[in-house]
Amino acid sequence: MAHGELGRVVLTAQEIGSHVDRLAAEIDREYASSLPVAVIVLRGAFVFAADLLRRMETEITVDFIEVASYGSGTGSSGHVELRRDLREDVAGRRILVIEDIIDTGRTTRFILDHIALHEPADVKVVSLLNKPARRVVDVPIHFVGTNVPNMFVVGYGMDLDGRFRSLPHVAEVR
Ligand code: IMP
Ligand code: MG
Repeated sequence: MAHGELGRVVLTAQEIGSHVDRLAAEIDREYASSLPVAVIVLRGAFVFAADLLRRMETEITVDFIEVASYGSGTGSSGHVELRRDLREDVAGRRILVIEDIIDTGRTTRFILDHIALHEPADVKVVSLLNKPARRVVDVPIHFVGTNVPNMFVVGYGMDLDGRFRSLPHVAEVR
């Protein structure tokens, strides 16, 4: 398949691997023996989560949440809607929210506010990528792979209108 619209590679598969290794070690130090639950944010975080969880020593259970932020292309409307709620009872559990990229922060804010309704013991956020220049809503990010400038990126789970999720690296969209 041709990827003619894609610009330069922002992170190679090898660079992603180093970030994932370091994040897994940081997260292992945080959780020791507390059996947290990973909440994977569909759909963009599925590739990152699969790699991260397999590099962690911590025993962890897995659940999913799906949200949609309206709009297609590289824009976002700011309106976030819940598409799939948690299936596990997470009351009293420690939660690790796994995100692909945090941009304006609206999606993460929505997820944190929603998860709080389930009364977990504690919630932390890991995101492979962070775009601090785009932040509109303040959100805590406890573990970050790396910051990226104000650009739209795809690959390693991240999409543009559903495309490019299966790329092993992260590329800029021209
Ligand atoms: P938010 O603006 O922080 O709410 O980000 C909303 C969602 O937009 C993220 O969870 C991603 O799914 C998506 N998103 C934001 N920036 C990018 C990007 O550069 N590439 C692909 N998806 C993005
Ligand atoms: Mg997306």
